[in-house]
Amino acid sequence: MLTRIIGTGSCLPEQIVTNDDLAKIMDTSDEWIASRTGIRKRHLAKEETTASMASEAARRALKDAGIQADEVDMIIVGTITGDYITPSAACQVQDKLGAVNAVAFDINAACAGFMYALHTAYAYLQTGIYRTALVLGAETLSKIMDWTDRSTCVLFGDGAGAAVVQAFEGAEEGKMSKESRGVLAFEQGSDGAKGMVLSCRGRVNNNPLMENPFAPSYVSMDGQEVYKFAVSTVPASIHRVLEKAGLGVGDIKYFVLHQANLRIIQSVAKRLKADADKFPVSLDHCGNISAASVPVLLDEMNRKGMLSRGDKIVMSGFGGGLTWASAVVEW
Ligand code: UT7
Repeated sequence: MLTRIIGTGSCLPEQIVTNDDLAKIMDTSDEWIASRTGIRKRHLAKEETTASMASEAARRALKDAGIQADEVDMIIVGTITGDYITPSAACQVQDKLGAVNAVAFDINAACAGFMYALHTAYAYLQTGIYRTALVLGAETLSKIMDWTDRSTCVLFGDGAGAAVVQAFEGAEEGKMSKESRGVLAFEQGSDGAKGMVLSCRGRVNNNPLMENPFAPSYVSMDGQEVYKFAVSTVPASIHRVLEKAGLGVGDIKYFVLHQANLRIIQSVAKRLKADADKFPVSLDHCGNISAASVPVLLDEMNRKGMLSRGDKIVMSGFGGGLTWASAVVEW
């Protein structure tokens, strides 16, 4: 069985907020944000919702793939900011697209959400349960930020990215595999013991037994612990997934990493002894959009024509949970 990404799409909110815009409403500066993170602006939702952005990204991905909505067998959305606890973002996307034949559900793996969703779809496709999957990362992080905490709120943005993934077998597989073998390997992991270094509590319990209900919670992060986790775990995960694929760092055209901090990306490049040019960046104009960052970047690369049939790329996500996941894909 050959599983290939056959289309991508993305959608960002219309409203762009620069570092200078933030400096007008809090004690921060373009110099601090840009030098510590590489972020210069981000898109923040006003009219948009997680489901509306996800649906638009999905429509664009289906168009890119040349697939009709009723051909989709499953929709998986990686998100921690669905508009409703139920229905899931994936069920909302199904409704908005009219993807009546799809099974739909969300995955909560924070910034690794798209990669977890992709791995889950891959498992369904490889076992022949389904043929065509729509895999998304979609977030409205601005609604879970504490806008009085400059150490977190300046880092994040909103947006959605999507990929259509399809399985091929038999004669079709044989024909296609000469050009590209699609997904070659996956590697993923979790470390719940360190989960509280990046947290956001869910809804508070206000049942009649509660005397002192918790206040609503926003994202809180020990930035330096997350940084240390990222720069050690991501290169190790990439080495493991490359080994599974029987490839080396030198075989890879691009490393499509979760976009949290430019310094993290540069450190991963250095630890892998890979050329920094092989690490495309979107965080300068998107900020950190958690589960959406990998598929949004992938779609930008696809639209710019940076990817040719047979190119080998690594995708890697990491973040809250703690979670991480990497894949090697032949485009
Ligand atoms: O998706 C995964 C999620 N997150 C990450 O990957 C984040 C990983 N961590 C990081 O990227 C970095 O740790 C940060 C960018 C979050 C912070 O950088 P840092 O170099 O670790 O800074 P810091 O937290 O040690 O703060 C240094 C100073 C502090 O001031 P003092 O105590 O030295 O006087 C902060 O109060 O910078 C101050 N500061 C700010 N100043 C201006 C914190 N936030 C800001 C701000 N503007 N927005």
